[in-house]
Amino acid sequence: MKTIFSGIQPSGTITLGNYIGAMKQFVELQNEYQCYFCIVDQHAITVPQDRLELRKNIRSLAALYIACGIDPEKATLFIQSEVPAHAQAGWMMQCISYIGELERMTQFKDKSAGKDAVSAALLTYPPLMVADILLYSTDLVPVGEDQKQHIELTRDLAERFNNKYNDIFKIPEIRLPQVGARIMSLQEPNKKMSKSDPNTKATITLLDDPKQIEKKIKSAVTDSEGIVKYDKENKPGISNLLSVYSIFTGRSISDIEQEYVGKGYGDFKGDLAQVVIRELEPIQKKYHELMESSELDEILDQGAQKANAVANKMLKKMENAMGLGRKRK
Ligand code: TYM
Repeated sequence: MKTIFSGIQPSGTITLGNYIGAMKQFVELQNEYQCYFCIVDQHAITVPQDRLELRKNIRSLAALYIACGIDPEKATLFIQSEVPAHAQAGWMMQCISYIGELERMTQFKDKSAGKDAVSAALLTYPPLMVADILLYSTDLVPVGEDQKQHIELTRDLAERFNNKYNDIFKIPEIRLPQVGARIMSLQEPNKKMSKSDPNTKATITLLDDPKQIEKKIKSAVTDSEGIVKYDKENKPGISNLLSVYSIFTGRSISDIEQEYVGKGYGDFKGDLAQVVIRELEPIQKKYHELMESSELDEILDQGAQKANAVANKMLKKMENAMGLGRKRK
C-alpha cells in the first residue's frame, strides 16, 4: 500500500477551500492508501496565536477531520507537536536549505509583506513541512494548489539529502483535486479563500450556521452582467460560485449554466446556499457529537503513538546519515 501524508493548520475554523481542496480528497483516498493526517500546530505558531484559541482550534480541527469522514480505523490522525521527530527533522532540513530558495516561496512573501516584524520561523516554515512529509516515506501529498511550491521544495530537498548523505527518502508526488484546487474569496474573487482572512464575509467555514451561509453567499462579489456563466478571467466571482455548486451536486458546470438561463444571480445564490447548507449539515451534527465525547482524545492518543513509531525510525536513519549523536541501530 502506498503512503499519503497531508496536514492542515489549526489557525482558525477550516473553510470551504480547505474542505474542497484538501479534506474531500483525504476522505476519497483513505481507502486506497496508508494515510497520515496531521494537525500542524507547530506551523500555526509561525504567526502569533492566542494560546487558548489555538488549543480550541486544535481540538476542533481534530473533530472536523472525523466529522468530514476521516475514519481513524483506516487513517492515522495526530497532532504535530505530539510527535517531536517533526521538529527535529525540520531542523535537519533547515540545515540543507538555502535562504534564497526559502525567500522565493510565495507563501513567505505573502505572509511577510508589509509586516514590521516577521518571525524567523515564517521563513523556515517550508523545511518543517518537508520534514513532515519525508518522515513517513510518503508517496503522495494531497493538497490545494497554493501548496505546489512547497511540494516542489520537498522533492528538491529529498533529492539533495539523498545525494549528499544517504539515499533514504522517497521522492513524493503532489496530488491536486481535479476541480476546486483553488477556491476563491467571496469578497475578492481574485484571491484564494483563506481561514486567516480577517474579513469573515470572505469565507464560509465548516461551522457556519445556515443563516450565516445564506448571508455570505448573497453578499458574495460577482459582476454586473447578471448571466450565470463560467468565465474565470472575466467573471471570477460567479465562476467560483459555480465551481462550488458543481462540486457539491456532482453536476457539470454547463448543466448548471443551462438551468439558470434567464434567471438572475439572486435565484442562483439562493439555491447555492441551500446546496452548501445541505453538504455541511451532517458534518456539523457529527462535529458537535464528537466535541462532547471522549472519543476524540483516544483517537489522537492512538494516532500520536502510531505516528511516533514511524517517524522515529526515519529520524534515526536521518541522524545516522548526517552523523548526529552516536552510532545506533
Ligand atoms: P493550510 O492549513 O493553509 O490549508 C490546508 C489545506 O487546504 C488547502 N487549501 C485550499 N484548497 C483550495 N482552495 C483554497 N482556497 C484553499 N486554501 C487552503 C491547502 O492547499 C492545504 O492542502 N502548509 C500547509 C500545511 C502543511 C502541510 C504539511 C500540507 C504543513 N505540513 C505537509 C501537506 C503536507 C498549509 O498551510 O495548509
